[in-house]
Amino acid sequence: MADESFTELGAPRVRLRRFNPGDLEDFLAYRSSAEIARYQSWDAPYPREAGERFIEGIMSEHPDMPGRWFQFAVELRGTGQMIGDCGAQPLADDPRIVEIGFTLAAGYHGHGYATEAASVLLDYLFTARGKHRVAANCDARNTASARGT
Ligand SMILES: CC(C)(COP(=O)(O)OP(=O)(O)OC[C@H]1O[C@@H](n2cnc3c(N)ncnc32)[C@H](O)[C@@H]1OP(=O)(O)O)[C@@H](O)C(=O)NCCC(=O)NCCS
Repeated sequence: MADESFTELGAPRVRLRRFNPGDLEDFLAYRSSAEIARYQSWDAPYPREAGERFIEGIMSEHPDMPGRWFQFAVELRGTGQMIGDCGAQPLADDPRIVEIGFTLAAGYHGHGYATEAASVLLDYLFTARGKHRVAANCDARNTASARGT
């Protein structure tokens, strides 16, 4: 069932919150990096119109809608900087099972921020949303992703 009242998830150094239109430039910047796009489903550079459509679309979605990805913006608590996003999609035919994914801007890798975001997201999914299983897939060459998840 959709979590319509969702606002944010707090971790010590990051928070996972809803996207807003002010995230566009940061979002386009990291999605347009060839290094970031390498193992992902999009190509760099990422078109501005696609970014606008993405943010407009995600703003009317809620977490925990079967068969639909919800993307959370990941923000640094200290500075308010948006540093990436993570997503969760309950399977359409068994919403107790959720797939997750993560992307951080390259300048913010190697600090444990993805680990922290994953931890608070897993806690939300298993505890607040009562999920049964959470899965993450990644390209076998994507060692940074495999270590984190
Ligand atoms: C996947 C991705 C989000 C992981 O980011 P990351 O920065 O490597 O992951 P973390 O933030 O958890 O950082 C872990 C690293 O920080 C180090 N680190 C530093 N301080 C840390 C802390 N306080 N806590 C935990 N780890 C810390 C760890 O030792 C670890 O280093 P290592 O990679 O050399 O082992 C990132 O590589 C990315 O955005 N990739 C492009 C998009 C992508 O491919 N996504 C996955 C698709 S499946």
